Amino acid sequence: MTTPGRADLVIVANRLPVDRVVLPDGSVGWRRSPGGLVSALEPVMRANDGAWIGWPGATDDADLQPFVDDGLQLVPVHLSADEVTEFYEGFSNGTLWPLYHDLVAKPEFHREWWDSYVRVNQRFAQRAAEIAADNATVWVQDYQLQLVPQMLRELRPDLRIGFYLHIPFPPTELFSQLPWRRQILEGMLGADLIGFQLPGGAGNFVRLVRQRVGHKTHRDLIYLPDGRTVKAAAFPISIDSAGFIELAHDEGVQARADEIRKELGSPRKIFLGIDRLDYTKGIYARLRAFAELIADGALDVEDAVFVQVATPSRERVEQYRILRDEIDRLVGRTNGDLGRIGRPAISYLHSSYPREEMAALYRAADIMVVTPYRDGMNLVAKEYVACRYEDTGALVLSEFAGAARELRQAYLVNPYDINGMKAALMEAFNAEPKETTRRMRAMRKTVVENDVAKWADGFLHDLSDIRPDHDKTMRAIASS
Ligand code: F6P
Repeated sequence: MTTPGRADLVIVANRLPVDRVVLPDGSVGWRRSPGGLVSALEPVMRANDGAWIGWPGATDDADLQPFVDDGLQLVPVHLSADEVTEFYEGFSNGTLWPLYHDLVAKPEFHREWWDSYVRVNQRFAQRAAEIAADNATVWVQDYQLQLVPQMLRELRPDLRIGFYLHIPFPPTELFSQLPWRRQILEGMLGADLIGFQLPGGAGNFVRLVRQRVGHKTHRDLIYLPDGRTVKAAAFPISIDSAGFIELAHDEGVQARADEIRKELGSPRKIFLGIDRLDYTKGIYARLRAFAELIADGALDVEDAVFVQVATPSRERVEQYRILRDEIDRLVGRTNGDLGRIGRPAISYLHSSYPREEMAALYRAADIMVVTPYRDGMNLVAKEYVACRYEDTGALVLSEFAGAARELRQAYLVNPYDINGMKAALMEAFNAEPKETTRRMRAMRKTVVENDVAKWADGFLHDLSDIRPDHDKTMRAIASS
């Protein structure tokens, strides 16, 4: 490990792209977390002496210094136990998360959570200001850090700043409930380029800035009184498509897919859901729709099984605990009432798995079911499509997932409509191979042509374009 220097490209995200692991000899090491974001940004970060600022995910690491892991400069930001409660679990995931996801759960507004959000955002901004080289590009990620762009601009006006929101940006009437709405809008406006998953989110933001902050706007441009122009536009995120295709072709992965099917009793068709255990994902309603199909006799447990992987998430937040109990009860009741020996209706796994096991599940599944009430994008849907290199399999997809805008050939459903979901599950179950192949081929083309590297290049290219006079102005300021 060496100590990082100043960086020409700085990523600022709530989490570092590594997990802390205890090695067999008892020492502490780091394992790269498998997100698409880091794999997309790695080449451009290496080429630009990049650094990544983020929280290592624990509270006992106050003394952790910046370090280099596998060629990536990593800069930890410490959170105290109170800040995890108030900034991360509180304002980020108890206020903003439900508010931005259409009030699927009720957001809580607490002034002390907001104070913690401001303090932690200031810490991230301070760290970025220290690490960024002169005229560097800083790319701030997601809803946990919406104040960082403005705070950073005050500290370092020479920087080129981008911001990307990975989750939906809500309609104006929902956002307007937020007691700190103006501060959040102004925080984001510190960026030169603000990226959203969908054009609708960018439109909501521009409208709010006009209504609530009073700046002039024209289409995707916002004109600030200080002479700056900010652009707000859609950049739909994607996955490392080539990486998933390669994984899907792997012999070990294919053997594991065959084994999974056998272990499930070789049913005619396997339905699959893979989600973080989150109330926005619509897991309960989807499993209920499937259970009703078995109870109605439309499907038989000899014919079909539903494999649901629910990855543990934000477990100290009450609404997540309640959801877990509800799903446990539903699965228990369904299997108790409808299963037979060795033939559960639902195979439920409350666990997280490595990419290889996920790819094997995607290869084994005949019907992938992705039915969130609201989702920024949903990368699981794209991963499934990438792994179906023989153009087989069907995707049942919520029309309220960002991915539905690109994956038009999926079986689109309204996740609030249980009968509609039952009909779509049956349509996918009974579809002719010719029909599923036609749909899958079109979706695969979209996912292969639009991968996460293209997303990152597109954003960074637009960011470098947005202030063509920026470098000249900064040089003039420096020499005056
Ligand atoms: O979708 C938003 C997001 O923050 C992702 O970036 C992240 O992978 C996921 O939610 C889980 O978030 P966390 O465990 O950091 O709360």
